[in-house]
Amino acid sequence: MVLDWINPEDYSFNSFLLLERFQIRFMMESGGWRNEKAEWRRSIGVAMNANPAVKWYLKERCPECAELINEIAANAPMLTDAAEIRKAEIYALASVEDFVIYTTPEIMAEQCDFIRGWSKERLVALADLTDKTVLDVGAGSGRLTFAAAEKAAWVYASEPVGTLREFMRQKIGREGIKNVRVLDGFAAELPFPDDTFDVVMSGHVVGDNWDNEVAELARVCKPGGWLLDCPGDSERDMMPVVPLTSRGWEEIHYVGSFGKDVYIHRKQVGK
Ligand SMILES: C[S@@+](CC[C@H](N)C(=O)[O-])C[C@H]1O[C@@H](n2cnc3c(N)ncnc32)[C@H](O)[C@@H]1O
Repeated sequence: MVLDWINPEDYSFNSFLLLERFQIRFMMESGGWRNEKAEWRRSIGVAMNANPAVKWYLKERCPECAELINEIAANAPMLTDAAEIRKAEIYALASVEDFVIYTTPEIMAEQCDFIRGWSKERLVALADLTDKTVLDVGAGSGRLTFAAAEKAAWVYASEPVGTLREFMRQKIGREGIKNVRVLDGFAAELPFPDDTFDVVMSGHVVGDNWDNEVAELARVCKPGGWLLDCPGDSERDMMPVVPLTSRGWEEIHYVGSFGKDVYIHRKQVGK
């Protein structure tokens, strides 16, 4: 899958020093998001052999991947040609371009299609957020969080990537935003008691484990509250989301900024 969110040539391989444990595990176990897995193993192996501090960090940060990292590195050549090494680094960076762009959140609004074309009116039309207590799960750089904060009493932005949490906290400080709190958390294990929020929303987050994640969103939502899935305008993945409609979520369409239908979803929680 190619997202075209970054020019990998602009990034140092040291960007991998900013990855979280769950990202390293995901990357190592899946082999990046591109299809040429043999090429990925060779490239990241060459890049790690040429950057031993990054190899050390990946193993220390994600000990469950240490054996696999050693194996990949041992099976890749130890190159000395700088151009060949850089080619391998660029392949490795491009293979996880979403993780890499999260290390530079300040350019996401321009570079990420789902943020660039999106209008906050799309969120406001999905549910009444006025004076509500809202949770944004996997808040990223805060596309939904800051839109909701204009109406809501409180918005809690849960996000498992530290560089993105820091970006949102800096924006809050810079703009004097008083009703947003940023915290760590995964969709499948949200750090909140049952029935906490009036609205629980997400965009481009749920999907690794539909059953656990959707149940968890509903758990922290009050009876009568709303679950919203509002992914933004991205031509690449705008299609009916059967795992949501089959679980009773209402499907709503609008014509996105790229001229085709965007599918968004909502469900009122009955307990
Ligand atoms: C494509 S971004 C979308 C960000 C934001 N929701 C938006 O629509 O602007 C996906 C986000 O989900 C976060 N994420 C990835 N896996 C997650 C998980 N298991 N639980 C919660 N968030 C996750 C990522 O760190 C990233 O910030």
